[in-house]
Amino acid sequence: MSTAPDPFAPAQLGPITLRNRIVKAATFEGATRDHVVSDRLIEFHRRVAAGGVGMTTVAYCAVSPDGCGTPNEIILADAAIPGLQRLADVVHAEGTAVAAQIGHAGAVAAATGHRGLSPSPVFSPLAMKRTRAVTDDDIARITRDFADAGRVVADGGFDAVEIHLGHGYLPSEFLSPKLNRRTDQWGGSLANRARFPRQIVTAVRDAVGGRLAVTAKLNMADGVPGGLWIDESIEVARMLEADGCLDAIELTGGSSLQNPMYLFRGEAPIHEMADTMPGVIGLGFRLFGKRFLPEYPFEEAYFLPYARQFREAVDIPLILLGGINRLDTIQRAMEEGFEFVAMGRALLREPDLVDKLQTRTSAEGLCIHCNKCMPTIYSGTRCVLVE
Ligand SMILES: Cc1cc2nc3c(=O)[nH]c(=O)nc-3n(C[C@H](O)[C@H](O)[C@H](O)COP(=O)(O)O)c2cc1C
Ligand code: SF4
Repeated sequence: MSTAPDPFAPAQLGPITLRNRIVKAATFEGATRDHVVSDRLIEFHRRVAAGGVGMTTVAYCAVSPDGCGTPNEIILADAAIPGLQRLADVVHAEGTAVAAQIGHAGAVAAATGHRGLSPSPVFSPLAMKRTRAVTDDDIARITRDFADAGRVVADGGFDAVEIHLGHGYLPSEFLSPKLNRRTDQWGGSLANRARFPRQIVTAVRDAVGGRLAVTAKLNMADGVPGGLWIDESIEVARMLEADGCLDAIELTGGSSLQNPMYLFRGEAPIHEMADTMPGVIGLGFRLFGKRFLPEYPFEEAYFLPYARQFREAVDIPLILLGGINRLDTIQRAMEEGFEFVAMGRALLREPDLVDKLQTRTSAEGLCIHCNKCMPTIYSGTRCVLVE
């Protein structure tokens, strides 16, 4: 008989208890205005919570205005606290915990009109100009911004904070040997490249103490030649474990900047994305988009082969993510020693999928991984197959 935990039974995540081991992965909701929580955002998470998930994640919240990756993200300043409290109350009323994903978009912020920041200057096709290399003062300021953001999330009554260390955003750019060409204490060796992300994680933990669970979303592989790969990312996981500031690591991969489809797998929604772009840029993307968005076939639990290597290497709780759509996959993740699973698109398609799996009304989600929800982040994130 299997000794694996029941995925639908309560589980401890650092200082908090979740009603089950299934987490809603961050899928940017495109539901905020004026950088604060909206009623639409609350309703998005109420539905997911009512559908039975253990914890829902409010997607990408910026730690500072220059950290926004898209216009109209929540900026984690004091003005955001009342809205966060309202959202937390509504989610808690459904018996679900709530996390906020916090990040600094780095070079990706160039898309929002800010001067993109990166470890070393790179050309940003989003802004058609070069980014600026961060200075020591920037690093000190952004570290403080992460700590302050953690405190805002705690004051907002949330249960957890997820620090974004993946997907080509600023901390992830620092980890990348391709993007980080610095020769100072923040670049070069892996220990140097990991210094800023580790400093961020420590600062957030120091700021929130035991008030919140603290997790990180970490790239196992950037999916680009010369980028962060599993040999080094396992070492980063070991360093983070040794620092003792995290309650779990969510394992991901890919880069919003350099190789987005590595993150999702399946078909690239070229035409739907082109429709969200102005005139000539949209036309160019329609014609040449396939070059920028190489596709990878979708497979159930596509990150599992990489994530297994992490399971062998570290003892810290791990959250398996990426193409989880079936009950037997969740059970298998538990058998392989993952403490939690995270699901994104499957719960966009069916916010009540966890209930359906738990009651055995269904054994598999309906999401077909067409990725046509990706461009809906600009108009209110939704599954295009749901009316
Ligand atoms: C519409 C959409 C928006 C997303 N927004 C975010 C985001 O804000 N932050 C993030 O870390 N990942 C984001 N993701 C990626 C998901 O968190 C997840 O890593 C990815 O979808 C793979 O998981 P899945 O196969 O369960 O969907 C987004 C995914 C989708 C489909
Ligand atoms: S649009 Fe719907 S079916 Fe397609 S990937 Fe997104 S959630 Fe799944």
